[in-house]
Amino acid sequence: MTQMKTTRFVLACVGILASLLTSQADAATSTTGAADQAQLVKEGAYLARLGDCVACHTAKGGKPFAGGLPIDSGLGTIYSTNITPDRAHGIGAYTEAQFGDALRHGKRADGSNLYPAMPYTSYSKVSDADVHALYAFFMQGVAPVATTPPQTDLSFPFNQRWGLSLWNWAFADRTPFSAPDGASAQVARGAYIVEGLGHCSSCHTARGFAMQEKSRPGDNGFLSGAYLNRWLAPSLRAAGKPGDRGVAGWTHAELVDYLGSGRNTHAAVTGEMKDVIAHSTSWFNDDDLSAVAAYLKTLPASAQASVADASGARQQTQAKLTAAKNLTLGERLFLDNCAACHAVTGQGAARVFPSLAGNSTVNASDPTGLLHVMLAGASMPSTVRSPSALPMPGFAVRLSDDEAAQLATFVRSGWGNRGAAVTASDVEKIRASLPKPGTLTAGDAHHPAGVQ
Ligand code: HEC
Ligand code: HEC
Ligand code: HEC
Repeated sequence: MTQMKTTRFVLACVGILASLLTSQADAATSTTGAADQAQLVKEGAYLARLGDCVACHTAKGGKPFAGGLPIDSGLGTIYSTNITPDRAHGIGAYTEAQFGDALRHGKRADGSNLYPAMPYTSYSKVSDADVHALYAFFMQGVAPVATTPPQTDLSFPFNQRWGLSLWNWAFADRTPFSAPDGASAQVARGAYIVEGLGHCSSCHTARGFAMQEKSRPGDNGFLSGAYLNRWLAPSLRAAGKPGDRGVAGWTHAELVDYLGSGRNTHAAVTGEMKDVIAHSTSWFNDDDLSAVAAYLKTLPASAQASVADASGARQQTQAKLTAAKNLTLGERLFLDNCAACHAVTGQGAARVFPSLAGNSTVNASDPTGLLHVMLAGASMPSTVRSPSALPMPGFAVRLSDDEAAQLATFVRSGWGNRGAAVTASDVEKIRASLPKPGTLTAGDAHHPAGVQ
């Protein structure tokens, strides 16, 4: 014990001496030091985009990073915390080591556990160098905000944060990032972003009984798709060829286009992915977008559902709609309400009107996403790469439950699509969950003040 104290004392003296020496050296190089520091803060700001920290740590209309966004965790409402550098209300008193522990291991400075609503299970892959830059950004590049967000108050037993140690022991992956076998430098970079800061698996990987992600990087289930409030976050396993269903049929360039701007030939973003694109992926630089797409293209799709053989089916639907004879109610409603934009080919128009043929939202086993878009409409995010936001009108007022069901059933089976039939009661449920007609703003994403 005494020996340890002495050692500590000696170490402390050496430390003081060393810091005196370096502070003199610092004075000599202070101008380059300041430039390096500014560069580090800039790097950290970019990494915070990769991690989409702003999305969760900003309340609707609130100051960036000041916390207070309610997150429905399935266990109750969890409020994000203030991560501005305010010492009393935010994380200003955190050391870099404490910041790294919160980010990668879900440990707060006081030693208690964070709820996994904070995606530390993904951020565990973040490198020391990136933690260093993020820390510099949060301490020096973010304005302190002196407010405390509402406290998370879950009911027993979930209010017992110590219980999360058990959860972490069972489910949290603490292994540092390692590149997939045989990965090129580009694919390795993509994997690092997707598995780590991008935390794509938090929505695109199915969760188990304890809300843990069921599959890890390297498993076939990883990124193979999951439902969020019955809305499909589709599989991102993109190895495949044109004509395959979902992202497996997308090219590298089409993936880049979607992540950078929220649109491409096959799809236009709606739902929760809209915020991800607006606040995060549209800010990725071209190299990083390309790396993410390259990595996703290496993941074999779980079930290669090829629709290449469906080209006959596509032509059949198109021919029937064009001839306009003996139409079903669903087909007629499509011509009257949808064909002007999405076309009788079901292919829409590249980057403006998404294709409905082979579309993941249309083919999802649960039709919630499709019905939501049909009834409430949608708008794509306005991004730096594609500034305009084109809305899709909502049809809640124009279509009865039965009409919407027949129309959706047609869309899910035309052009080679393979979604099951939709019933009027499916529509009724979704309609009831929507805000009253007229009060809905298309898409309705939150845009934190001061953050574009
Ligand atoms: C998906 C939502 C989400 C994202 C994305 C997210 N966080 Fe969090 N974070 C949370 C929530 C929720 C909490 C509070 C959890 C709790 O109370 O146990 C939290 C807590 C924290 C804490 C602990 C602060 C304290 O209370 O002492 C830090 C530090 C933190 N986050 C940093 C970050 C950084 C840096 C990023 C981006 C790289 C980020 N977070 C991204 C949801 C998120
Ligand atoms: C907050 C949840 C969430 C996160 C985080 C998230 N996504 Fe998504 N993503 C979704 C949802 C929901 C959809 C479906 C959007 C729709 O229906 O238009 C989607 C759609 C997509 C699509 C289009 C798939 C298709 O077949 O139409 C791609 C590609 C995609 N996401 C990639 C990513 C990548 C890469 C990341 C990580 C950088 C990511 N997502 C993170 C929720 C999320
Ligand atoms: C005035 C033009 C217009 C009309 C009419 C229209 N849409 Fe759309 N639709 C759009 C645009 C633009 C988008 C992209 C907006 C977005 O998803 O953010 C879109 C998106 C969609 C999507 C989401 C695709 C995806 O990748 O997530 C579906 C499904 C859809 N429309 C179905 C329909 C159906 C069914 C009808 C008829 C009831 C219809 N649309 C009528 C313009 C239109």
